[in-house]
Amino acid sequence: MIKSIVILLFCLFSARILSAQDAERNTFIDGLLNEMTIEEKIGQLNLVAPGGFTQTGPTVSEDVEEKIRNGQVGAILNSMSFDVTKKAQEIAVNTRLKIPLLFGMDVIHGHSTIFPIPLGLASTWDMALIERSARIAAVEASAHGINWTFSPMVDIARDARWGRIAEGAGEDPWLGSQVARAFVNGFQGENLTDPSTLMACVKHMALYGASEAGRDYNTVDMSRVAMFNYFLPPYKAAIDAGVGSVMTSFNVVDGIPATGNKWLLTDVLRDRWGFDGFIVSDYTSVNEMIPHGMGDLQQVSALALKAGLDMDMVGEGFLTTLKKSLEEGKVTEKDIDTACRRVLEAKYMMGLFADPFKYLDSGRLQTDVVNARHLQAAREIAAHSIVLLKNENQTLPLEKSGTIALVGPLADNKDDLLGTWVLVPDRNRTVSIREGIADVAGGNVEILYARGANITDDPYMQSTLRLSGPSQEVDPNGPSTEKLLDEAVIVARKADVIVAVLGESFAMSGEAASRADIGIPESQQELLRAMVNTGKPVVLVLVNGRPLTLTWENENTDAILETWAGGTEAGHAIADVLFGDYNPAGKLTVTFPRHVGQIPLYYNHLRTGRPMDPNNKYTSKYLDVPNDPLFPFGYGLSYTSFEYGELNLSKKELTGNDSLTVSVIIRNTGGIDGEEIAQLYLQDPAASITRPVKELKNFRKLMIKKGEQQEVTYTITTDDLKFYDSNLDLVWEPGEFIIYVGTNSRDVQSASVNWIRN
Ligand code: NOJ
Repeated sequence: MIKSIVILLFCLFSARILSAQDAERNTFIDGLLNEMTIEEKIGQLNLVAPGGFTQTGPTVSEDVEEKIRNGQVGAILNSMSFDVTKKAQEIAVNTRLKIPLLFGMDVIHGHSTIFPIPLGLASTWDMALIERSARIAAVEASAHGINWTFSPMVDIARDARWGRIAEGAGEDPWLGSQVARAFVNGFQGENLTDPSTLMACVKHMALYGASEAGRDYNTVDMSRVAMFNYFLPPYKAAIDAGVGSVMTSFNVVDGIPATGNKWLLTDVLRDRWGFDGFIVSDYTSVNEMIPHGMGDLQQVSALALKAGLDMDMVGEGFLTTLKKSLEEGKVTEKDIDTACRRVLEAKYMMGLFADPFKYLDSGRLQTDVVNARHLQAAREIAAHSIVLLKNENQTLPLEKSGTIALVGPLADNKDDLLGTWVLVPDRNRTVSIREGIADVAGGNVEILYARGANITDDPYMQSTLRLSGPSQEVDPNGPSTEKLLDEAVIVARKADVIVAVLGESFAMSGEAASRADIGIPESQQELLRAMVNTGKPVVLVLVNGRPLTLTWENENTDAILETWAGGTEAGHAIADVLFGDYNPAGKLTVTFPRHVGQIPLYYNHLRTGRPMDPNNKYTSKYLDVPNDPLFPFGYGLSYTSFEYGELNLSKKELTGNDSLTVSVIIRNTGGIDGEEIAQLYLQDPAASITRPVKELKNFRKLMIKKGEQQEVTYTITTDDLKFYDSNLDLVWEPGEFIIYVGTNSRDVQSASVNWIRN
């Protein structure tokens, strides 16, 4: 009783403090808005990308310095230099109203110390590690003067052809929501006024990952039920975690471009979800509403503002047309004030009015960037992101003795290990796989290296990749393709085991990097065939940013390690796994198809009226390829083995507020200690709308010592049974529910319960 009174008093007291703080902020911003001209207000809605900085879109902004002086800039994008950032802030705070700038950057998976690409980070299934990577990224970026990151990208992706699948957490909305939260917490920390934090920006609202045919910037068409159940939850999770800003997507949502979509930006994001931060467009996505067919620049800019957009990235539609729209009555001063207020509120909450230079302490560059602690974290996190896809005859871990042939165009390469979206990495600190193996193997291993192949010899692909900069795929001074291959065969013949490092260059995934064929490029496959033909054991180490089709590789190699683009310390982390200093435990968060023609292929699909029956012609299947994937969602092996005991349920019949406990004993039956990610899925077999065959609802990552066992317990409540029905109401419907527990989404055991209302 006394405890409850104390809690109540505490809540009332903190509510008063909060409202006092809010009142203080509102008074400050009201005062400022009163003094601002309409031009100055519109200026705050303008985000510029100065030329000379890293260009991440089709155009750049001009006369930036003058625009800052004239109060026509609210924020700057991808400023790479501390000195330039500082100078820009000095100019801004010397303007009439002294309003500081925001400095935004794509800090996606590390800043100078690079962590695995987000798809790799998700494969750790370890929220504490993901949060730590984001925390370190925030520390390093803020030491460079950056205070806002365009991350996390939480777009659910079911199509591995889409290059940006690399930037998200994969195909599952529940796991994607956990990852979204971990990123936001890591970037924003406890308090945004702390100068070692970044304001996060969840993107791309919404459905960007559902681009038709996996082609970037393509159109999207989706039912609202699918949006609410499978695509929107991670954005909402970021909002619930307190993300400060949201970025819109390039695509249409229900026929209207997201950037000008009032239903999405106001009805859903603000009114339904209660988001009170600011919304920024994607790079020129206001202007891109013109080719979408929504009108001229003045019309689309007014449409976007009216829909709820607050800041215009690069395109300057707001800057150049809003005043005219105001004069013509197409927007109101209140519309402009509302957007301006949100931008000013963010600056206020970050403490920039109190100290515009709080992120510009040059001393931190010496202590807070790429230090030993950050590198150690990068190595550990990269090791946790690696997924063991195959390990025949315990080919792995390798002995720390004998001769290894290390071949492949990605074996002695650094840039490709960093992956997509690295704007200011410390390239000198990147450890190649060749260097990592040499460091970890010790003196008793002889390593014979040969490049063996170019990343791709395909002239069309080489020409499209050249748009990302000088070709990484071919060594211009290197020998002919035949000579490369011969050199690899010579070293392979002398070795006990072959380690072939193959996959994709950094430019082959990420933005504007869709592929219609998601296999390993032919030049590298030729190398792999030659290695297999030597009859020596072959370990395939994959460096890539998306699921690949690996049917032949799976049939013909002895072991396969999926290492993604693992970042600065990838070389060490991969060597740690190859030699067994770390026992791999990562699991896939995306399905790996057998064939590109199966796409979209994802584990939580809806049921069909004619499920696959190999003996019945009129069922849902292909003539040439089975329906199932090569590696399912949640899949990943270990150097040890785990055995699951029987499922234990606390009850079989439940009502309303009951909770169900599901437990299972997992035993490490192999020879070494290892971690297992034990997954729980649910199926709702009969409901008012068709529900997926299975949906992830929980998991545990456990370290189990060899020969030991642990009991895992999950609690399920009616919250876990809920879905959005055809009225978009979040409901649970009584009846039977099937519970699955297992080591991946395919290999599970099941039990069913009956859950009725009170
Ligand atoms: C376009 C991308 O879609 C977005 O993710 C990124 O944050 C911006 N460019 C800024 O670089």
